[in-house]
Amino acid sequence: MNLTELAKKRRSYRKLEQISITPEIIKELVEIVEFSPSCDNKQPWRFIFVYDKDKLTELNEVFHEKNSWVKNASLLVAVFSNQDSGCNISDRDYYLFDTGIAVSYLILRATEMGLVAHPTSYYDEKKAKHILNLPEEMVLITILAIGKHSDSSEVILSPDQEKDERQRPRRLSLQYLSYLDRYVEDYEEDKKRIEKIFK
Ligand SMILES: Cc1cc2nc3c(=O)[nH]c(=O)nc-3n(C[C@H](O)[C@H](O)[C@H](O)COP(=O)(O)O)c2cc1C
Repeated sequence: MNLTELAKKRRSYRKLEQISITPEIIKELVEIVEFSPSCDNKQPWRFIFVYDKDKLTELNEVFHEKNSWVKNASLLVAVFSNQDSGCNISDRDYYLFDTGIAVSYLILRATEMGLVAHPTSYYDEKKAKHILNLPEEMVLITILAIGKHSDSSEVILSPDQEKDERQRPRRLSLQYLSYLDRYVEDYEEDKKRIEKIFK
């Protein structure tokens, strides 16, 4: 599978079935992060891999109700960092940006391995940090729910989530998100310029 095929295949599915997680699988998943770029090569990303059944059960408690599907994940990857771990250039912090790039590598690698790696943000960070023994100054950026996609999973989803499961949520058009040469506030005025690229 080339990169475009992989990117198209990647989805944030919520219907997951259990798989058996081994240290080898975790190594395979995360090795790709070594090739991820970062500002001043700071590599600010940190991961906690949780696959012990009891610890998973404990961590499942931190998710908001809309993330109750996470309980079917076989591996949770807590992704954390903090400001001091990354670089700061003229008051711009890069630790979140760098970590995002690294996580996207990991997600695509999971896709290549036939797995789903679904990022989450709706959780009680304080509770999760306590369970994970994370110091106060760390930011728990996301918890990735990893498993295998399953059509037959009995997990209860909202109507919107059911819809997302069947088809990829709509994206804004690239034309709307892009500018040529300069930013202009009036999008309609600039439309013609950018149409040179997105006909
Ligand atoms: C930073 C981040 C946080 C997210 N948090 C949640 C979440 O808490 N619960 C959830 O069900 N999906 C979550 N998602 C998944 C998005 O809803 C999903 O990526 C988006 O709807 C696009 O669908 P797709 O990934 O299948 O293309 C999150 C995605 C990202 C990147």
